[in-house]
Amino acid sequence: MIPETILAKIDGNRTRYVDELLAFLKIPSVSTYSVNHKDVRRAAEWVFNHLKRLGFQSSIHETKNHPVVFGQRCKREGAPTLLIYGHYDVQPPEPLEDWCSPPFQPRIHNGCVYARGASDDKGQFFTYLKAIEAILAVEAELPINVKLLIEGEEEIGSPSLLPFLQSHKKLLDADAVAISDTSQFEQGIPAITYGLRGLLYFQVEVTGPRFDLHSGSFGGLVANPVQILAEMISKLKNPDDTVSIPGFYEDVLPLQDWERHEMESLQYNEEELKNYLGVDKLTGERGYSAMERKTARPTLDINGIWGGFSGEGAKTIIPARAGAKVSMRLVPNQKFATISGLFKRYLESLSPKGVQVKVTELNGADPVLVMRDRHSVQAAARAIEIGFGKRPVFIREGGSIPIVNLLQKELGIEDTLLLGWGSPDDGAHSPNEKFSLQDFHRGIRSAAALFYELAPK
Ligand code: BES
Ligand code: MN
Ligand code: MN
Repeated sequence: MIPETILAKIDGNRTRYVDELLAFLKIPSVSTYSVNHKDVRRAAEWVFNHLKRLGFQSSIHETKNHPVVFGQRCKREGAPTLLIYGHYDVQPPEPLEDWCSPPFQPRIHNGCVYARGASDDKGQFFTYLKAIEAILAVEAELPINVKLLIEGEEEIGSPSLLPFLQSHKKLLDADAVAISDTSQFEQGIPAITYGLRGLLYFQVEVTGPRFDLHSGSFGGLVANPVQILAEMISKLKNPDDTVSIPGFYEDVLPLQDWERHEMESLQYNEEELKNYLGVDKLTGERGYSAMERKTARPTLDINGIWGGFSGEGAKTIIPARAGAKVSMRLVPNQKFATISGLFKRYLESLSPKGVQVKVTELNGADPVLVMRDRHSVQAAARAIEIGFGKRPVFIREGGSIPIVNLLQKELGIEDTLLLGWGSPDDGAHSPNEKFSLQDFHRGIRSAAALFYELAPK
């Protein structure tokens, strides 16, 4: 059990922790933008310096793109080793006009900090650094061995992570991994996540005539790329909201009865969700609850579409090109590499003569289920109870974290603890992303308690 003195330390330093988080949130570490390349590195160095100050043996590892920050403090022989993973990169903040305050000038309002990355994932993984600091302020040593792996490419699909894991197996060796990059079930009801969906992302480009044409002079003679793209896209889904790619559902693991009952017992409030989202109807595959559809069923989405004229007024053209970003959320036991082949083959079959269709895979991550019946999971549940004052529920989440599957496959780590301190309405990837300062505080307490719950009795 964690000593009360450490929890008191955490409570006493609450405002300083927030000030430090604000400084971190000011760094615009948008991994997908090349203009932010230096800022991303600055965020890596910020984490690296922080780890060094905590007495961690730390290093910055170069990759093809953004660096990986690693640190370890392994001074407890015989005690288990916990690897903590997080990401210091963030999503682009656009549309800027929808923010109430600038995304990289953090603002505190109604007990929350508003900034890009507040919840996803800077604020969440920072809790572990403050937990470590508090323990070391009271005790001479951490109760277990701790390693940290903080990367800067999560939001672009972690392309450098697989080679890094493969070439640093020894360095990363651990008994369990903790990741706080998910959410509570709802604010005040903490959760341990045992499943994540995978992701497969494509860019589709359709090219027609060499340049935009007068639609009067040439209309009726050439295929219109925007029209063709729209038709192709409309054929990706059936009217009942299922995905029409042949073979897409082949490997889908059906929901088990116990799991459906458990999900139902959580009483996910669909009415409240509709209000929050501002829609008058939830859609999706028939025969599945909202909770099931968003966490355990695969989906396909158009993320964006472009082409032709969209300026003020009217312009009569046949556009030369059009494009779209298409992504799929995958569930166990779908494999992104297999689905990628199916998608490309299907699009080829939909491509008419008169245009060129180019399909580019942007990234992929496999879905994952982690074990629930492990001692480490029970330890995490007790730690959360100390931090949040409530036992966690078990949930699956619909988002993706590429490393979770890789940890199982490449490092053979079975104990993966997905401990979300955030709230489902934090607005990750949306304008006005926020993180509740109370959740931040409870996260730090839970993280500190976790070290003690994992320690040998
Ligand atoms: N923190 C999220 C993952 C997440 C989202 C977990 C929602 C649970 C619920 C992560 O930063 C993320 O956004 N991942 C990307 C993955 C991708 C770029 C490979 C995602 O899910 O879109
Ligand atoms: Mn994240
Ligand atoms: Mn994210």
